[in-house]
Amino acid sequence: MQKSEFLWGSATASYQCEGAWNLDGKGVGEWDVFSHESPLNINGATGDVSCDFYHHYQEDIQMLKAGGQNSYRFSLSWCRILPEGRGRVNEEGIAFYNRVIDCCLENGVVPNVTLFHYDLPQALAAQSGWANREIVEAFAEYAEVCFKAFGDRVKLWVTINEPKYYAYCSNIVGNYPPNHKLDFDRYFKTLYHEALASAKAVAVYRKLHQDGRIGIVHDSSNVEVAPQTKHPQRIRMIADLFYNKLILDCAIKGELPGALLPWLNENGIDTSYVRFEDSLTLAEGKVDFLGLNVYNRFYITDYSEGETEVFHNNRGAGSAAKEGIRIKNWYETTIDPSTKRNLWGREIYPRCMLNTLREIRERYGDIDIYITENGHGCYETPDENGVVQDDERIEMMQGYIDYMFRAMEEGCPVRGYYAWSTMDLYSWVNGYEKRYGLVRVDFEDNCRRIPKKSYGWYKQLIEDFQK
Ligand code: FCB
Repeated sequence: MQKSEFLWGSATASYQCEGAWNLDGKGVGEWDVFSHESPLNINGATGDVSCDFYHHYQEDIQMLKAGGQNSYRFSLSWCRILPEGRGRVNEEGIAFYNRVIDCCLENGVVPNVTLFHYDLPQALAAQSGWANREIVEAFAEYAEVCFKAFGDRVKLWVTINEPKYYAYCSNIVGNYPPNHKLDFDRYFKTLYHEALASAKAVAVYRKLHQDGRIGIVHDSSNVEVAPQTKHPQRIRMIADLFYNKLILDCAIKGELPGALLPWLNENGIDTSYVRFEDSLTLAEGKVDFLGLNVYNRFYITDYSEGETEVFHNNRGAGSAAKEGIRIKNWYETTIDPSTKRNLWGREIYPRCMLNTLREIRERYGDIDIYITENGHGCYETPDENGVVQDDERIEMMQGYIDYMFRAMEEGCPVRGYYAWSTMDLYSWVNGYEKRYGLVRVDFEDNCRRIPKKSYGWYKQLIEDFQK
């Protein structure tokens, strides 16, 4: 690969940035209902307006290009395109994404488009969402509408963003809708349906012969075991089944991990929904590439006494809660005293970039990889000139990128890197205090965009790489 072919970009997701939640025929999404009505929406923030990408997309894409980036990763809102989740197509929704895609192409920016980034149409959520097998067909239909509408210009597709993290937050932590807590049956069922839906969408894409590439995005979760652990191999195997294998084996090898069903059955977890013919669906739906959202690792040790519990911090500095899980007789996540955490309890561990890339290569061979997200969330105050001096973000991202370069030197086929996020936007459940953007958004002043120090740093990094 030529250096100039490497994609350097940044990413957003529809619910987090578009706003325009009820404009131009958009249907209601699960996150609209959650953010408007749920007592679990702790700070009352919604994506109703967010940074209003719906009306600012030209400015955002031009700024991205001016920042030296040659690709933009974004997602489509399912209920903007199919307001009821299935059936009727909203032409105004199609027209909006046509404008966004055309604007990318006019600016020489490669669109990298995700079909599903957490925002399920409410009509489908009301029918048990991802726990209902019908979702598999519904997703394949939606995917086909999108490929036919945009596939002439979009050549890089992602089926689902972070199937694991979405299933985890919705069914284990309970902070994402539909807010089930420690529901292991529903967690695996959701993951299974996501794996099948993704595979079906891949098969639909192939049938259309559109001459592009299609992948899935996994939230990279490499498991590392703390030194004092009594049964390191056993708990590592369990944690890998829990976090990684179902999605990765299905997407890359086209099959369920061999150890999965026996292990679920042994643990009394429902598998009654698994059908023989599904193995054919999986086999026909292998991805062309893997996207990895790299933030941290899972650092674990044994846990045999005590009950199963999950901890999450959506309140940032306002909470002392640590982020993690303890699962009786399996393992618990633990803290490595030598690493830092952000104010929401997420570990900052740049080396996980290298470790995860090596591990994926060892397990799955030379599948092409895009780092589809990497970034740093913090509270921010602009200086007297209105600019955010986000040195902390720069230092942290530089660390991850250096490890990515090291993996590439070792031969790991990384094809692109996307910073999360293009500009400040809604952070799931946390709202607007936690910021990730390379560009600041002044939510008090008509969503004015002001590049941060990291925006210029990233531009320079890209230029140096391309030299
Ligand atoms: C990832 C999500 C993304 C964003 C980042 C911070 O889990 O894919 O939407 O919220 O975390």
